[in-house]
Amino acid sequence: PDRYAVIGHPVDHSRSPDIHRLFAEQCGQVMEYTRLPAPTDGFERVAGEFFGAGGAGLNVTLPFKLAAAEFADRLTERAERAGAVNTLKTTPNGLLGDNTDGAGLVADLVDNLGATVAGRHVLILGAGGAVRGVVPSLLAAGAARITIANRSIDKARAIATACAGMGEVIACGLDALPEDADLVINAISAGLTEGTMPALNPRILARAGAVYDMIYADAPTPFLRWAAEHGVAAGRDGFGMLVEQAAESFALWRGMRPSTKAVMDTLRGPAT
Ligand code: ATR
Repeated sequence: PDRYAVIGHPVDHSRSPDIHRLFAEQCGQVMEYTRLPAPTDGFERVAGEFFGAGGAGLNVTLPFKLAAAEFADRLTERAERAGAVNTLKTTPNGLLGDNTDGAGLVADLVDNLGATVAGRHVLILGAGGAVRGVVPSLLAAGAARITIANRSIDKARAIATACAGMGEVIACGLDALPEDADLVINAISAGLTEGTMPALNPRILARAGAVYDMIYADAPTPFLRWAAEHGVAAGRDGFGMLVEQAAESFALWRGMRPSTKAVMDTLRGPAT
């Protein structure tokens, strides 16, 4: 069977093998999908060996998305814009790098949460690698303005500058947050490890119809709990984004797009 894997450091808790196994069953595809751990300085070697041994495609997770963009022979337009690659595919004319993270986020926001992106002001909290990948897709989905707010404002500015030609992108610090955003997306990782978010002004929710946390967990995330306490109950965590970006990768590899709903229900387990 064609062989696929998710490469990362660490990668042992990745849900991607389960997701792709269910996609393959649903679409009648015979394929193998495993976890491929690599040391932080060993992406090129491990990925090179995988493709050298006939591997068909890789998903790329932290911290290798930039290295994967360098490694690919060609990039899709959206990977080029994101400056990062989460999907690699062998093709007759070399290794193709794509980025399905942004499309995955937009699909989960619009199709599953029922949020509107087109014409709206989107506030993103955080400016890590995950944000770099999704801003171009939010602009492509018609966002009228994106504000990137980060503790280190320089990182928010760098993303805003890189995306300047694609739409209106503004940078600010966590102490000067806008209060007119229609949608607030969290990409600050602190909530996950420490169980706490940095103090945020609840006024950022004043006009927000929905919130989204790009981080996911078994229980409602600290950010989603905080938003609910301040009156915004419509929210989702990043598990849907994970499944949607996987569906986009699967479509690139196998030429057919699986239905995501059933897979989310199966893997999510009992409602949290
Ligand atoms: P990812 O690639 O998942 O986005 P990352 O690149 O490590 O992860 O980014 C983590 C984000 O969480 C950054 O925006 C980081 O802010 P800084 O750029 O200022 O470091 C943010 N973050 C992490 N811990 C934080 C904390 N305690 N308070 C505020 N922001 C925090």
